[in-house]
Amino acid sequence: MEQKTFKPTDPHSFSQPQEARVKHLKWTSTIDFSTKIITAVASWTIESIEDADVIIFDIKDIKIAKVTLDDDQPTEFKIAERDSILGEALAVMIKPYTKTINISYTTSPGAEALQWLSPEQTAGKKFPFLFTQSQAILARSWVPCQDSPSVRFTYEADVTVPKDLLALMSASNPQQKNETGVYHFEMKQPVPSYLLALSVGDLQFQAISNRSGIYAEPSMLQKSVWEFADLEKMISGAEELYGPYQWDRYDVLVLPPSFPFGGMENPRLTFATPTVIAGDRSLTSLIAHELAHSWSGNLVTNATWNDFWLNEGFTVYFETRIMEKLYGKDHAEMLASLNLQDLHNEIKDLNEAGLHADTKLKLDLDDRNPDDGVTEVAYVKGYFFLRSIEEKYGKDKFDTFLKDYFYDNGFKSMNTEGFMTYIKEYYQKKFNIAFDDQLFQSWIFSEGVPENCPRPSSDRFKKVDVVIAGWNAEQNLDKSKAGDWTTQEWLHFLKNLPDTLSQQQMQSIDNFGKFTQSGNAEIISAWSVIAIRNNYQRMDPVIEAFLINTGRRKFLGPIYNELIKTEQGKQKAKVIYSKARSNYHFVATNTFDKLLN
Ligand code: BES
Ligand code: ZN
Repeated sequence: MEQKTFKPTDPHSFSQPQEARVKHLKWTSTIDFSTKIITAVASWTIESIEDADVIIFDIKDIKIAKVTLDDDQPTEFKIAERDSILGEALAVMIKPYTKTINISYTTSPGAEALQWLSPEQTAGKKFPFLFTQSQAILARSWVPCQDSPSVRFTYEADVTVPKDLLALMSASNPQQKNETGVYHFEMKQPVPSYLLALSVGDLQFQAISNRSGIYAEPSMLQKSVWEFADLEKMISGAEELYGPYQWDRYDVLVLPPSFPFGGMENPRLTFATPTVIAGDRSLTSLIAHELAHSWSGNLVTNATWNDFWLNEGFTVYFETRIMEKLYGKDHAEMLASLNLQDLHNEIKDLNEAGLHADTKLKLDLDDRNPDDGVTEVAYVKGYFFLRSIEEKYGKDKFDTFLKDYFYDNGFKSMNTEGFMTYIKEYYQKKFNIAFDDQLFQSWIFSEGVPENCPRPSSDRFKKVDVVIAGWNAEQNLDKSKAGDWTTQEWLHFLKNLPDTLSQQQMQSIDNFGKFTQSGNAEIISAWSVIAIRNNYQRMDPVIEAFLINTGRRKFLGPIYNELIKTEQGKQKAKVIYSKARSNYHFVATNTFDKLLN
């Protein structure tokens, strides 16, 4: 192992894996819905350097009952002072020959990763529900672990749940309930802690292909299976692009609406928001995105959260390529173009908030919550950086590179500097191309978007632009021109309307697109912002219901932020938030409490 060092390589973990590092987890747990507590034993197999006398874990709000070594030998442990973001360091004294650390503990009812839903908060209304969200640094609130993306381990688990519920993890999964309520899981490929996941609920499974399928509450299952019918095509399309899928199965779990993200790439089992079940398969790029993480992120993992763009930028690139392969160039260009507009808006907001440095790809999140790095910069600036490499040196070359990048660095972590070295050497050796360092400088280490950023171009959006121009000139919206518009065209339309609109204009736009009645969450979210800005009160009840029933942070943020721009809106937002807050996961309340509580 490497020599002793005192500067932690990951600013968001107390662990010192260069001294003593976890290799395998055996997790035995009981899930108690009445107390909202998980009682568990985490038995960690470890490796340590010769003179290591301590191993450090991350924990947050976890109550440790007992720690023993190997076959139950007593040992000492210490818990350091709590940091409000990072939680606590748990230091366990070890011997040179120690192989296993057994930690018996309970979680707290407020554990940040866990969301416990009452039956009313589910689709079926009969059974409670539990899900975890571990990324970025919340795994430590339900499993004592070395909570750094640079540390990988395999795991197995035995989980006891109420007999009428099914348990699922980011591992090998059951496809139906059993009589005992005890479920066994195995994850044979090493994963970092942020990919630990568990969900418990009244769940059913239906297959899509022999290696993929959907889990959902019974009343959501058919709709979900229909929506994601192309799942197998996405997996094989992804494999054709960048090499074999390395995780055996790929299933999707459709969660209740309080899930705070669109999707989460838990290995073998993507967690997804029900807000992508639009009824017309128009929002399935989200599945392409989470699937793509099976290479970018889950195989080649960002070493720290400062390198988050390596996960998300590569994934947006890969996602867009899957969508291009399945649905054509123009569709992919629509997605890229919507993304670019969001990026420009995000950069404007970050600059207005004084957060100029957060518009670089390489972040400096020391002493900050890694959640601050979750912006369009990592996703979309990352995407356009990779696309500019593709355009500069050729698409075939870039594809060859990516395939090898995933293969050579699989099941390892990668930081920004490691990526730079790898791609430079690769282009030199393989193609005899001297990679232009200026690309790194202008994209990775500079603020904002470089002048020469690639420009996506979609014929379908050009037609939408004509309609908007016609409206600006003559206030005339011809419904026949929008007969074949998809969700993406409607979104482009909404996002490019003038900022200020009269009541009459709002009414005629609403007649044109039937936005207020839309069942599509992306459209409701975009239209809500416009309605608030222009005081279009017909939307008020829809906005209130949407904010109460949906927990997806990406939708809530823009709406609450628009509401609080006026004093009256702020009062309204606070009233709605007080009703909605109990439906939100910690990652959402942690964002919005500052604004509204
Ligand atoms: N891994 C992310 C979600 C995430 C990022 C959770 C950082 C916690 C911290 C996931 O892959 C993701 O990017 N989800 C997006 C959807 C995607 C289509 C852009 C989301 O939830 O909106
Ligand atoms: Zn992602």
